[in-house]
Amino acid sequence: MTVVGAPIDRVDGKAKTTGAARFAAEYALPGLAHAALVYANIARGRITALDTTAARAVPGVLAVLTHQNSPTVKPAPKVSMLNLSTLVSGTQVNYLQTDEVHFDGQPIAVVVAETSASAKEAASLIRTEYAAMESTVDFAAAEPDAKVQPNNPLMRGEEKKGDAEKALSEADVTVDLRFTTPPHAHNALEPHSTTAVWEGDHLTVYDATQSIDWVRSHLAVRFAVPTGNVRVLAPFVGGGFGGKGSVWAGTLLAALAARATGRPVRLMLTREGVYRTVGGRTASTQRVALGADRDGKLRALIHASVARTGRVGGMPEQITSQSRHLYDAEHILVRQSLVELDLLPNTFMRAPGESIGTFAVEAAIDELAAELGMDPIALRMRNEPAVNPMDGKKFAHRMLREAYTLGAEKFGWHERTPEPGSMRDGRWLVGMGVASAYHPANRFAANVTVRLSADGTVLVRCGFQEMGMGGATAQAQIAADALGVPFEAVRVEYGDSELPMSPGAGGSMQTASIANSLLEACEKVKHSVQALAKRTGGEGYEDILRRANVPHIEAAVGSDTRFGRIAGQARFMTNFLLEQRRWVKAAAGVQFCEVRVDRDTGEIRVSRWLGVFDIGTVINHKMASSQLRGGIVMGLGMALSEETLIDPRTGRIMNPSLAEYHVPVHADIPPIDVSFLDDPDPTMPLGLLGAGELGITGVAAAVANAIHHATGNRVRELPITLDKVL
Ligand code: MOS
Repeated sequence: MTVVGAPIDRVDGKAKTTGAARFAAEYALPGLAHAALVYANIARGRITALDTTAARAVPGVLAVLTHQNSPTVKPAPKVSMLNLSTLVSGTQVNYLQTDEVHFDGQPIAVVVAETSASAKEAASLIRTEYAAMESTVDFAAAEPDAKVQPNNPLMRGEEKKGDAEKALSEADVTVDLRFTTPPHAHNALEPHSTTAVWEGDHLTVYDATQSIDWVRSHLAVRFAVPTGNVRVLAPFVGGGFGGKGSVWAGTLLAALAARATGRPVRLMLTREGVYRTVGGRTASTQRVALGADRDGKLRALIHASVARTGRVGGMPEQITSQSRHLYDAEHILVRQSLVELDLLPNTFMRAPGESIGTFAVEAAIDELAAELGMDPIALRMRNEPAVNPMDGKKFAHRMLREAYTLGAEKFGWHERTPEPGSMRDGRWLVGMGVASAYHPANRFAANVTVRLSADGTVLVRCGFQEMGMGGATAQAQIAADALGVPFEAVRVEYGDSELPMSPGAGGSMQTASIANSLLEACEKVKHSVQALAKRTGGEGYEDILRRANVPHIEAAVGSDTRFGRIAGQARFMTNFLLEQRRWVKAAAGVQFCEVRVDRDTGEIRVSRWLGVFDIGTVINHKMASSQLRGGIVMGLGMALSEETLIDPRTGRIMNPSLAEYHVPVHADIPPIDVSFLDDPDPTMPLGLLGAGELGITGVAAAVANAIHHATGNRVRELPITLDKVL
């Protein structure tokens, strides 16, 4: 391998930095109209009056669509594991089809106008009256009614080994702790945007999505046209993080507005629109209880979480995921419970589950270490399992020991004096903290074609999308090595649903999923070339193809026919279940941080960060480092500032803007040192494990642990703001 691993610049870097790259809201189609949304401001009930007179009178307004005059839209399909595209509905709400309101922020009208300004002005003039119904919107108040999450094909709601409560009560040293995390909102650089155009019963949408293929299937169902009539394009996406993994109101309503007006329509959500109509992360409460012998051997591990879903959708977040794999204990109990709230449905957000789950379990391990008078790394190593703790399955790859050893040395962990408050720098209390990072590794079925031309160039075609992580660059590197051609000879086409079907960009699965099929396609191409060479002779691709008088050789993996899709999905499910029975696969790592806390004001500054990660083979060191760094930055937001404030009386989001929801800025972020073990996982294509989500995991715990080391205070409630530290 010569190209894989190299820190190559992104192939789309220049287009993005020069502004040549066009995003979903940048297609200036002829006759383009603009849409704006009106949001309900009750949590649950019915619209009793909706006055659009003033809105319709605004110059330039083309249409005001409400439940009174909207064209018909079919309901969202029921979720079925036989058709995974059914997972893509953000909510079950059928917008503008009835007078019902299911959550505060639900779009209840769409204004279409010649300009965005007219649309927004008109939207502000719509007057609505409601008959409110009783609603449940207060997570804290609902928590006691939480019910254990039903099992799903990916995870059981409750798992146990032995009798953890009993073992806890008998253990020498115990901690039994409660952690809380707030809801979080998605804040991608590019707000959700759609440009939609109908030609007869053919729909084209440029959509800021992580999943063009599923968006296509979904829109076809909702607008009752054949799937082949819908084309979804997303050549560039300005960040997604899970928030663009589902179909939310904006995409549907842009397509609806275009159909109703006969004009191409652009709908770019305002930042407020993203907060109100695109789900974010659930709030959580978590109990972590640990019991150990005096020498640090864990006897009992309990992790029980409460999160929320909703009547009209929501994602049961897998908060205890990592706790099933991180520590060896004879007695383990994990349980995930849910409450149903009448709020905008929660959804995936970078490392759903492990982001907030590692906060609780990794902070609790730190607390247990303090109780035992042990170094927290030594405690972890004492309980590092040889096999999966819950069921004895093998780890496909497990290098946490190596990550801790390398990280501790590079970070200078030995310089840490264990006593809280013992390290100072002038007025700053200095703390050092550490935590494990963990994220499962999987892959989906992907269809890929590879074409080798007589001029020596290679074209890879796959309908994935690129939201900033460098997917096209990574696949070009993989193809270059697989075929033995220079990186520059490879071109990758992506971001268009007309291309072979790809899974969405999610679950840190994209690179491995596509690589798997790409490697197979490259093998097929090489075989075809060899067969040609036997007939006509020649040395090297160009020579062989020219002698054989063949303009190009193409190989396909997977089929986009209806049957091909079903077969691909069945293959994926079978493979997934077989592998799951055999292995536990994950990327993992360790997060080290240093914080400074002002002894008088409680101001918290993160002054140093170092992560060592096991993501198997590293395809591109530069991009992978950026992925991990980006995750760490998001983790710092989660640790220190991010919080969606929901009014517990009304269910209304109170801070729907970047002015009142602080995501980290440059001044918040220290230098971040990222390194990799770069050791191939024997069970994954090219040995690679996903890198997208690992970086955020463990971050909040490392910060909380460092703050405790600096100040002696344990803060178990995110975000850790200065008032909680003082
Ligand atoms: Mo991610 S939350 O799998 O986009």
